[in-house]
Amino acid sequence: MVDGPVPRGHPAAAGTVPEPGVEPDMQLRTVGPYTLLRVLGIGRLGRVHLARTHKGERIAVRVIRGEFAADPRFRACLREEVDVVARVRGPRVAAVLDADVDADVPWLATEYVPTPSLAALLSRCGPLSVAGVRRLGVELAEALTVIHDAGAVHRDLRSANILVPAAGARVVDVGIARAAAASPLTRGGGLLGAAGYLAPEQLLNGPGGPASDVFALGSVLLHAATWRAPFGTGDVTAVLHRVLRAARICADWTPASSRSSRRACTPTLRGARRRARCATR
Ligand SMILES: Nc1ncnc2c1ncn2[C@@H]1O[C@H](COP(=O)(O)OP(=O)(O)O)[C@@H](O)[C@H]1O
Ligand SMILES: [Mg+2]
Repeated sequence: MVDGPVPRGHPAAAGTVPEPGVEPDMQLRTVGPYTLLRVLGIGRLGRVHLARTHKGERIAVRVIRGEFAADPRFRACLREEVDVVARVRGPRVAAVLDADVDADVPWLATEYVPTPSLAALLSRCGPLSVAGVRRLGVELAEALTVIHDAGAVHRDLRSANILVPAAGARVVDVGIARAAAASPLTRGGGLLGAAGYLAPEQLLNGPGGPASDVFALGSVLLHAATWRAPFGTGDVTAVLHRVLRAARICADWTPASSRSSRRACTPTLRGARRRARCATR
């Protein structure tokens, strides 16, 4: 955990060293009070850096890409999301530790999880064992319970956003998909999340809620168990179409007039977690 920001004049907050020809955020040596050490990976929103606090603790800092930073709607939405996700605390989630949404180059600092993602693990090692899938299901249900109890929604749960240290899965990137979706850079220009993980209501232009995360949880487990892409591969439109078709089949199957049976069939996360725990015993 970070104990607090370094005073602005501290040497660790020295600023940038411009280098011609290098992308702007790669010129950064520090963001806020944190010293950037190396790039962990690059996503659509920008780079994620390993960074160090003035106390020597390692954290992960996401530096937002200039195109998004230039969009006031993105910043406003990110500000709202950060306020909510900063409350999310639990062993299965990488906590947001600090952020400056109003900086020239906005950034978010989270706990660093020194391990590859589930996506990397699966592509290297193949599908998980039955016990491994059960364990993953329990851990992700625990993560979602904490996220939803804090009033947040992940909205982009997929294997690249799940890091898998030996102590159990940790979810990263809670909530930032909503800010990205608020930007015209993603709206109409393509979905931020991955096809096959986005729930039907998200595809139909809704913001998505806790149930959308449960849909994504199912897709992650399906991928982990079978090594197949949920809802198949190929053209993105075809994958999305399969998701919507499956949703229509489920909607037809649930008796529309029977509210009580619909309620009875709706699994709660706590219930799913309890059942999964029992199954592993
Ligand atoms: N808190 C973290 N600790 C360690 N690595 C992280 C953390 N957050 C993100 N990463 C890594 O940074 C990389 C880029 O992440 P991101 O920009 O979200 O793209 P994506 O999720 O599509 O891989 C990923 O490889 C991810 O494993
Ligand atoms: Mg990510």
